[in-house]
Amino acid sequence: MIQQVMSFGKMPLANGFLEKEEFLNEYFFELALQFDSESKLISLVEQPNPSKMFNEKYAFFSGTSKLMQEHFRLMAEDYFKDFLFNKSDAFLVELGCNDGIMLQNIANRGVKHLGVEPSLNVANVAKKKGINVISNFFSNSLALEIKKHYGQADVLCAANVMCHIKDLSSVAQGAFSLLKEDGVLIFEEPYMGDVINKTSYDQIYDEHVYIFSVLSVMNLFARFGFTLFHVEPQETHGGSMRYYLCKNGVKNINESVNRQIDFELALGLDKYETYLDFSEKCKNSKLNLVELLKNLKKDGKKVVGYAATSKSTTVLNYCGIGSDLIECIYDTTPIKQGKYSPGMHIPIKPYIDFENDRPDYAVLFAWNHSKEIFHKEKDFIARGGKWILFVPEVGIIETKVS
Ligand code: TMP
Repeated sequence: MIQQVMSFGKMPLANGFLEKEEFLNEYFFELALQFDSESKLISLVEQPNPSKMFNEKYAFFSGTSKLMQEHFRLMAEDYFKDFLFNKSDAFLVELGCNDGIMLQNIANRGVKHLGVEPSLNVANVAKKKGINVISNFFSNSLALEIKKHYGQADVLCAANVMCHIKDLSSVAQGAFSLLKEDGVLIFEEPYMGDVINKTSYDQIYDEHVYIFSVLSVMNLFARFGFTLFHVEPQETHGGSMRYYLCKNGVKNINESVNRQIDFELALGLDKYETYLDFSEKCKNSKLNLVELLKNLKKDGKKVVGYAATSKSTTVLNYCGIGSDLIECIYDTTPIKQGKYSPGMHIPIKPYIDFENDRPDYAVLFAWNHSKEIFHKEKDFIARGGKWILFVPEVGIIETKVS
């Protein structure tokens, strides 16, 4: 049975940063969640057409953060060591390889590889690094073409991609035929356990059609002949999970899977009521954030945003926060700078101006990179600036300068 959980109201595209002239024709859809009591899957009720999100204007470049660069370097090392090393015909395929941040580490080792990336602008950046990429959406029919031209794969992997793909059955079928008999499907995605524990509702936006849990991945992929044999929690994106799947009967199930299932049952991820409770927590978070910003405004403080993340689009639009409460958002991504935030139209400025503009308070939208950012922006704290966080709770953070 599928039941609606909550609605966040009308939402623009999370990465739909736009020019003033585009305000009138901005695209909106209703961002709402539903729960499937059979598979335990949380998904969006409505998702915009993928070509609206992943196209030649896609504004998300994986390679912008040092933390993520290191994360992907270690990921490539793990995949190489565990599944590719010492195989003369080793072949790895990555879905949604973005700018090649992970795949470049595989290519540098001289391993046969292929990236599948529908967003042409980021695919071109990967190609310039010497990575073999095709610009397309992965599907069962594309998998058959890849198999014909390149042969079967040892590893089919994806990071922050699987939760973007509505038609999971086509991907799962494609993965099954593309993988060798002992091949593995590995993907990592923002984790429902963390979303519930931290009330990180900003993980919910157009591109994340699913927020997976171990229970839901196990149930969904079992329908296509896959066994979930291992899971590894990750710190990235504010809490993610890496899922390892094999064809049925090929590998033993690791203790990590049962341990995580026990954790999920204790958290209630299998129950509709848990998500209703989450929806109440989202409403409280909204009220607290808006109240805090209104009070700071009343006190004449200069409040800005830091990092125009995709996640910030949900927060700003759900809470109805515009440039009256947050003057502007500083961001390192050149194609976002000079544009306006989706929906609420807050100006995006180059992060280089952050210190010169001397804000009193900065809302940290990239809260998942807080360690790196607090360190980078020591001067902001030193002169009395303060960070505002909204995950796991709304509050002003006392950080020390070290
Ligand atoms: P995300 O990986 O959490 O989605 O965040 C990516 C966005 O955050 C991207 O637009 C770059 C921006 N950002 C900064 O502006 N400064 C930073 O220090 C970091 C880590 C990210």
